[in-house]
Amino acid sequence: MEAVVPKENNTREQGSANPESFAAVMEARRAARGFLPDPVPEATLAEVVRLATHAPSNCNTQPWKVYIVSGDRRDKLAARILAEAAAGRVEPDFPYDGRYEGVYQERQHQAAARLYDAMGIERGDAVRRSEAFMRNFRFFDAPHVAFFFLPEPFGLREAADLGMCAQTFMLALAAHGLASCPQTALSLHPRIVRDAVGAPESEKLLFGISFGFEDPSAPANRARVGRAPVEQIFRFIA
Ligand SMILES: Cc1cc2nc3c(=O)[nH]c(=O)nc-3n(C[C@H](O)[C@H](O)[C@H](O)COP(=O)(O)O)c2cc1C
Repeated sequence: MEAVVPKENNTREQGSANPESFAAVMEARRAARGFLPDPVPEATLAEVVRLATHAPSNCNTQPWKVYIVSGDRRDKLAARILAEAAAGRVEPDFPYDGRYEGVYQERQHQAAARLYDAMGIERGDAVRRSEAFMRNFRFFDAPHVAFFFLPEPFGLREAADLGMCAQTFMLALAAHGLASCPQTALSLHPRIVRDAVGAPESEKLLFGISFGFEDPSAPANRARVGRAPVEQIFRFIA
């Protein structure tokens, strides 16, 4: 990233405000589903996690625990999760039925269509769709995976805090030229993950994030899912 230069006409002191570089980072982040094997340098990872801790939270409680798994431990964990997923066993800490209706279903279908189009998978090709889904459990070949846990007794409100931490983490990765994929799929086998990272039963797994250097040759990474028009999301009341 270039040095941050405050604008002359900034009337309020906003520290390192630089809208252009912020927009570039925001637009650089998207879900990557194919990674190179190269690990992230330790110093970069240390800076990314430092930045991630800047996320806001209710009363600054910082109700999150994040475990980052790499190397041999990552490979062994992927093998265990894959075997469990292949056997069709799922036991998430938080219920997940993945059913959307109305406009939410339309958006879901459009995103899936664009993703499978990029991968050259026909809508009716259940076998290849299933294979593509199973890549979740290989962390899309990423060398690192971060698991985001919510400690008991926290609930919905603190889950929002966890989401803010995760997005800050992914934006910090993007600012360092790194890619990521947030994955609910990685919350489906919490016992295995807790066992692998040494987390207590009182920490509940909400999602995982695979990350590393994007593989630009991976077809899935050509997908651009787009967004609903701003007017569908934000209403200005004055
Ligand atoms: C909490 C959360 C869970 C997600 N779970 C998965 C997942 O299990 N597998 C996957 O491939 N993508 C997953 N995604 C990625 C979304 O599909 C993606 O963010 C969305 O389509 C928007 O695309 P973009 O991130 O490229 O802008 C998840 C995203 C979020 C925020």
